[in-house]
Amino acid sequence: MKTLLIVYHSMTGGTRQMAQAAAEAAGEVRVVLREALAAGAAEVLAADGYIFATPENLAAISGMMKDFFDRCYYPALERIEGRPYATLICAGSDGQNAARQIARIATGWRLKPMAEPVIVCTRAQTPAAILAPKQIGQADMARCAEVGAAMGAGLAMGIF
Ligand SMILES: Cc1cc2nc3c(=O)[nH]c(=O)nc-3n(C[C@H](O)[C@H](O)[C@H](O)COP(=O)(O)O)c2cc1C
Repeated sequence: MKTLLIVYHSMTGGTRQMAQAAAEAAGEVRVVLREALAAGAAEVLAADGYIFATPENLAAISGMMKDFFDRCYYPALERIEGRPYATLICAGSDGQNAARQIARIATGWRLKPMAEPVIVCTRAQTPAAILAPKQIGQADMARCAEVGAAMGAGLAMGIF
């Protein structure tokens, strides 16, 4: 059975819900859903495909996701080429730069993008709203589930 590794970080819950939606929809694959802090190079090497899910913080991937990539980049370099990946971004109002950063890292790893990044904007504007727990709406959860389902099906059928 193929393995899908989903690595995420979340401060106020939005990205966690997005990652869980993708995980639950993945179907006939072994899903390893890991917080960034708990994920390491061994999981990266052992997986057949990846979903990276991060908040956009200060126009960048979150610090914990950066730490995950920093720890895993060289141990996995040249050992995971050609594997598929997808990206989920939870942002306030933008998310583009976090998506670009992940695309650059994935290009370095020579991963294959499976889909355009899914960017969900929570529209929180004030400090209190930004720090409040997030509830991702059904339509956006469905977009994340589609990514999980497509990734799971592609891996299970050996399409990638
Ligand atoms: C320190 C900090 C910086 C942020 N910077 C951005 C940003 O640059 N662009 C953006 O669209 N949203 C930004 N946000 C909003 C978060 O992306 C948004 O609240 C998102 O829901 C966080 O995901 P989470 O619920 O998984 O933690 C920022 C939030 C925090 C706490």
